[in-house]
Formats: sequence, structure tokens, C-alpha cells
Amino acid sequence: MFNETRLSVDNTYSCASCHQPNRHFTDGLSKAIGVTGEQHSLNTPTLYNTGFNASLGWQDTGITELEQQHLVPLLNTHPIEMGYSNQQRNVIAADKQYQQAFEVAFPDQQISLENIVRALASYVRTIRPPTSAFDNYLFQDDSTALSKQAKAGLELFFSERLSCSHCHASLNFSGPIKHSLSQAPPVFHVTGVGGSIKPFRAPTLRAIRHTAPYMHNGSLATLTAVIDHYENTSVERVAVFKLSQQERSQLVAFLQSL
Ligand code: HEC
Ligand code: HEC
Repeated sequence: MFNETRLSVDNTYSCASCHQPNRHFTDGLSKAIGVTGEQHSLNTPTLYNTGFNASLGWQDTGITELEQQHLVPLLNTHPIEMGYSNQQRNVIAADKQYQQAFEVAFPDQQISLENIVRALASYVRTIRPPTSAFDNYLFQDDSTALSKQAKAGLELFFSERLSCSHCHASLNFSGPIKHSLSQAPPVFHVTGVGGSIKPFRAPTLRAIRHTAPYMHNGSLATLTAVIDHYENTSVERVAVFKLSQQERSQLVAFLQSL
């Protein structure tokens, strides 16, 4: 279903049109483009470990479950992302392969929008980042997995001086996640990107080297540009700091190891 273009109004767009698996579930654009060519106001985030997020979307939309979230791209009209309607449901429901698969997954139920989003969410919950150098360093106890530079960058990242880890924390290097032992409420921060005073969720930094451009509006093209932004911003909870050229390379090397 994730790759199913018949879920869109003109049979050309699927979830994977924007969340492209070979681009680590992003699209390489600053802001997403919907099926009719309209531009979205936001950048397409990766879907790695997204099932853990305490809230979904860049902003505080009140959406906490994948099943709720998936209705947005399917049904959104500002902009039209996929343009799903009953017509699309009828096409899917008439497909023999889907009839069989849905009968197995949802016995004795009709193929409905509700079951389509349940199927999608079950898949999205399985989307995991590839094993990174940092994973090998941490979980395989492989001290050679990180370069000297990246190790120095790790120290900087977790330092009180930079305080990156105050907001990018836990297994996703992100805002709060939920799991069987934690139902932490979502948190949103103002980081002043593009002069914005709106609060955003701290996104995951997993596989961050692959998912440029960055930030809610895709306005920063490189990790160096992101660090420059933090160095030149004065907003609450973001530390005031200046890095030497060497320290900047170290921090970038660490981010690239994630
Ligand atoms: C037009 C491009 C586009 C299409 C098509 C699209 N998405 Fe998205 N997706 C986005 C954008 C942009 C966001 C950020 C929206 C926001 O912050 O409100 C997003 C956010 C998400 C999120 C929240 C991620 C997080 O961690 O906050 C999930 C989950 C998601 N999409 C899944 C899907 C699924 C499943 C489909 C297919 C039914 C889909 N998307 C189709 C562009 C798209
Ligand atoms: C006060 C909380 C906070 C602190 C401290 C913070 N971040 Fe962020 N970070 C965020 C938020 C919120 C966003 C999204 C902002 C936006 O899109 O406008 C973000 C976005 C990012 C992104 C872009 C992610 C993407 O997918 O687009 C990177 C990279 C990043 N931060 C790295 C860092 C580093 C490195 C530090 C330390 C120097 C740091 N952050 C400190 C909250 C924070």
C-alpha cells in the first residue's frame, strides 16, 4: 500500500513518492510537492523509527498515532498531497490480490479507509534506520567504528556547552519517544529557523547525513549550515556557543556517524 499509486487521485502518487525508500524516506526537496504539483509548506521528514515518536509532524498538531497521521496525506486538501477518495477505495477493493491480503489481515471486514491506514501503519512501524558507525561503536563495543574526529564531536554534542542532547535525546536523537515503559508527552521548541517564532519538534538525527535539506522548511542545505544557525541564534534553551573550525568539523563528523 505504501507504494500504491492507485491511492492517489490520478494514479501517479504514493506515500513513496515523497517518502522515497532510496532517499531514506525523504524526497531531497526543501518542501514537499503534492500530486497536483502544489507545494506543501513543510519539508518531508524521514520515517525511520517514526512509530516511536510521541507526536507526529513538525508542529504540535495533536496527532500521536500513525493511523491518525496517515489520513493527512491521503485526505489533505491544503495542499492536495494524494487526493484519496471513495473512488480510490473502490479500485483497491476490486483488486483480487488486495481482497486476499485484506481477508488475511482483517478477516470478515470490508476494505475500508480505516483498514487501509491500519495496514499502512503496520508497515511504517517496521521502518528502521540502517546500522550506522555509531551503532557499531555503541552496541557492538567497536571502539574503531568512530574516527577520532567523530569521538571528539560526540563529546561536543553531549557537552553542556553545546547542549544538543537536551533536545535531541534517546535512541532516536530526537524529542520524546513512547515505548512500553514510557509515555512521555511531546515537547516543542523554538529554534528561530528562518526567523520563525513557532515551536517545532526536535526531529531524529538518525541517518541525518542522508536527509538534506534540513529543518521544517528545508532552508538549510548542509549540516555545517545547521551548526552555523545554532551558533548565530539566541533563543531560549539553545546554548550560546562559538566553535573553532576544528570543533565544527568534529561535530559534523559525529552527526555523519549517526
Ligand atoms: C506530498 C508528499 C507526501 C506524501 C505523498 C506523503 N507524505 Fe508523509 N509527510 C510529508 C510531509 C511534508 C510531512 C510533514 C507534515 C507535518 O509536519 O505536518 C509528512 C509526515 C509524515 C509522517 C510523520 C513523521 C514524523 O515522524 O513526524 C508520517 C508517519 C508520514 N508522513 C507517513 C506517510 C504515509 C504513510 C503516506 C502515504 C499514505 C505519506 N506520508 C504520504 C509528505 C508526504
Ligand atoms: C532547544 C532544543 C534544541 C537544541 C538545544 C538543539 N536542537 Fe537541533 N533541532 C531542534 C528542533 C526543534 C529542530 C527543528 C527546527 C525547525 O525545523 O525549525 C532541530 C533541528 C535540527 C537538525 C535538522 C534535522 C532535520 O532533519 O532537518 C539538526 C541536524 C540539528 N537540529 C542538530 C542539532 C545540534 C548539532 C545541536 C547542538 C549544537 C542542536 N541541534 C541543538 C531542537 C533543538
